[in-house]
Amino acid sequence: MTIGIIGAMDEEVLYFRKRMVDFESISHGKQTFYKGRWHGHETIVVKCGVGKVNAAMVSQMLIDVYNVDKLIFTGVAGAVNPELNVGDILISQSCQQHDIEATALGFSQGVIPMYDGPSVFQADPTLLNIAYSAANELAKKMEKAVLKGKVVSGDQFISDPSQVTLLREMFTADCVEMEGAAVAHVADFNHIPFVIIRSISDKADGKASGDFQTFMAEAAQTSAEIVSHMLELK
Ligand code: ADE
Repeated sequence: MTIGIIGAMDEEVLYFRKRMVDFESISHGKQTFYKGRWHGHETIVVKCGVGKVNAAMVSQMLIDVYNVDKLIFTGVAGAVNPELNVGDILISQSCQQHDIEATALGFSQGVIPMYDGPSVFQADPTLLNIAYSAANELAKKMEKAVLKGKVVSGDQFISDPSQVTLLREMFTADCVEMEGAAVAHVADFNHIPFVIIRSISDKADGKASGDFQTFMAEAAQTSAEIVSHMLELK
């Protein structure tokens, strides 16, 4: 069994790159895949870059080229649920692309038009439960909240409280980021189980850009630690 682990930024995959032993790095175009073992599991770690297209490209490559059996995304997000604060953890129950929009054709925002599949993608229940247990075990030590909930993704960095209100009202979103729903879409299309793990770096409000710079590295490490602990539990 092979597990694909994706992060968007260096900080989100650094934890694995520093600790993987006997890994092989393989380049495909501008992407570098790190192949090795992690807690006894055959693992491929890759930084995809920011945004849904990058995330989708790398997810499909992990499936087609590396035959991964599961996809895990690790990284940071902006909080949409007011119960989530910087450093807290959200494990995806479901994911949706908030910026897909064909309302002029009669489709609701967030609905993929003329697509023979869902617009809200459900995470794999087994991966979700393992991630939730792993996060709770770590969170006890770190005094962080852990929620299961909905991740919404779009090709925008959100830094406006009125947009946060809209995302909460329209999608009942818990956090917002820029890749998770793209990974979920590709995983669902290929019948591959997935889960998205996000630690909160900001509240997607007027302070989001400063908070993101300040807290991103620490939040990214928290998320990576959860993934690592998940593979220990599995
Ligand atoms: N990732 C982390 N914070 C984010 C935000 N505010 N908007 C989009 N993606 C994010």
